[in-house]
Formats: sequence, C-alpha cells, structure tokens
Amino acid sequence: MTEPTFTPRVFSGIKPSGGLTLGNYLGAIKRFVGMQGGAFETIYCVVDLHAITVWQDPAELAQATREVAAGFLAAGIDPSKSILFNQSMVSAHAELGWIFNCVARLGWMNRMTQFKEKAGKNAEKQSLGLYAYPSLMAADILIYHATHVPVGEDQKQHVELTRDIAAKFNHDYKTDFFPLTEPVIEGPATRVMNLRDGTKKMSKSGESDMERINMLDDADAISKKFKKARTDPAPLPETLDGLKDRPEARNLVDIYAALSDTTPEAVIAEHAGAGWGAFKPALADLAVSKLAPISDEMGRLMNDPAEIDRILRSGADKARVIAEPILQRTYDIVGLLR
Ligand code: TYM
Repeated sequence: MTEPTFTPRVFSGIKPSGGLTLGNYLGAIKRFVGMQGGAFETIYCVVDLHAITVWQDPAELAQATREVAAGFLAAGIDPSKSILFNQSMVSAHAELGWIFNCVARLGWMNRMTQFKEKAGKNAEKQSLGLYAYPSLMAADILIYHATHVPVGEDQKQHVELTRDIAAKFNHDYKTDFFPLTEPVIEGPATRVMNLRDGTKKMSKSGESDMERINMLDDADAISKKFKKARTDPAPLPETLDGLKDRPEARNLVDIYAALSDTTPEAVIAEHAGAGWGAFKPALADLAVSKLAPISDEMGRLMNDPAEIDRILRSGADKARVIAEPILQRTYDIVGLLR
C-alpha cells in the first residue's frame, strides 16, 4: 500500500491567558517566524478555546486574544505568508475535537503530566475541558492535516498524544486519513526556565513577576529582572560541560544564544571566564535590543483593535477552506449522515 502524501504544513498555537513571556517568544513565536515562507505552509492560531479551560474574564479574554495576535504580528508573522486567526472562529476545531474525545482513551489522558501539574491536588474541581484539552489540541493540528508542529519542550507529550489519536483513528476506521504529525522541538530555547529558580519553567502564571520576562516589559524592567536573576557565584566556564548542574547559569546562556541566533557553545566560547557582573548586563542589553522593537510594535498594533480583528477574520476565512473538507471527509469516514 502506498503512503498518502500530505502537504508539508505547520500548525501551532498559543493560549491567550495572561500575557506573552520570553518563553513563548523564544520557544515558539521566533521559531514560527523562522518556518514562514519556506518549505511549509504555515498556520498559526490564538487558541482561545483552550484558554477557557480555566476561568477567563470575558473582557480580558478578548483583549488577551488581540495581544497574542499582536505578538505574532510584531515578531514577524506576515498574514500574506501565514494563516493567522483565533481558534473559536473556525468551528471545525471543536467539531473534530468531539470526535477525538471518542477516540482518545481515559488511560491516555490520565498520563498527561501537564494536567496533573495544573490540577494538583484539586483534580476534582477542574473543568472537564482542562482534562480533555489534549484531544482538542490534536484536533487543532489534524483538522489541517499538519505534518509538523513547532512547540516548546512542555508540549511534546501532547503532540505525541496527537500521533496516538491519529494512529488509533486510522486503525479503527481502516484508513490512512490522518498524518502522524512530527513535533519540532529545536534550538537553544525549547525550555526557558524561571529566572528565580532554574529548575522550573518560565510561565505566565508563576507567583512573582521577577521570575519571568513579559513581552510588554519595558527596558528598565527587563534589565532589572536579568540583573536580579538568580545565579551561582562561579564565573562562566570554558566549555558547555561546565554548566552541568548549574541550571540558572545554563538558562541565561541558552537565552543569550537564542536571542543572538547562535548556539550555547558559541556563547560560552565568547564569554568564557566572564563573571555575572559582566555577563548579566550584556544579556540585559541584548534582550532589550531584541525585544523593545517587538513590544513597541505590539503597542502600536494594540491601539488599532479593529485592524487586528480584521486580520484574524481574514485568516479564519483561509483556515476554513482547509479545515472544512477535512471535517466533512472525517464525518463520512465515521458514518455521520450529512
Ligand atoms: P502555551 O500557550 O502554554 O505556550 C505556547 C507556546 O510557547 C511554548 N512555551 C515555552 N517554550 C520554551 N520555554 C518556555 N518557558 C515556554 N513556555 C511556553 C509552548 O511550548 C508552546 O509552544 N497547548 C498549547 C497550545 C496549543 C497548541 C495547539 C500548540 C493548543 N493547540 C496545537 C501546538 C499545536 C499551550 O498551552 O501552549
């Protein structure tokens, strides 16, 4: 049997809950921009239906959706090269999500570490949506037959689950309709860590604002946060090996590498022996020079919400053209009359 060929297509998404962080930028958006205009068709999405798996104030959700869209655009996503839209405008995501809820097994969902982390001891009080979230994520990807999904390390398990869902669907319905999507987790910043604790991921929801860089932080805040970032007393080593068991130091080197489009090895080669008194200000200056133009542009875009909404609506129109036939074909395969 010949394998079906799928158009090389990238899909990825970001939740509009809280603001964007440096982790989202380096682990996701910057890489999305890098994949644009090349071998892949690129589809990027503000996943608002995922955001409401935990409570979101309605007015803030609309604003956060525009802010993430502004972040994509300001960082270089070009609506003439990529499809950019918000998830709820393309109802096929939710419709395929339901079908995948009937394909995914409870045992698979019970293994999802992100649910366990988020739910903590309060699993009984979480929404059913938070639990089913990875199956909607599989639908986001597979409603476009996406072949590649660039994400940070924390989403790897969800992309693997997407493959499991595709494989089970294909097996159960004796078809090869859905591709087995590849996660793309590359570069020095696939897991940007918290600036106060190098063993924890930098996230939007951490307790203290000092532990993360927000995309809308001003130059002073960025400098202050890097200068106060926790480190150990030793200077930078001669080789990358010397950063083993030094998670905070490693994180700052990785961030430096990602911001300057180089490798951690090259950063160490350039700064070997430097103390933090020299490295941290250099990192802060680099971050400000890279992030300030993006946050300025985000601010400018946010002043014209109607224009952002227009871009998202036009992206959704293009997304539907790909998604609708895939949904209809899925309904046929499943035997749903239409
Ligand atoms: P979300 O909104 O939590 O994060 C968006 C993207 O940013 C990456 N990321 C990071 N990368 C490196 N270091 C960090 N500290 C860091 N924090 C966040 C995430 O890995 C992600 O790539 N479930 C997804 C959203 C989603 C999605 C999808 C992604 C929904 N459907 C389909 C891909 C394909 C999420 O919550 O990402």
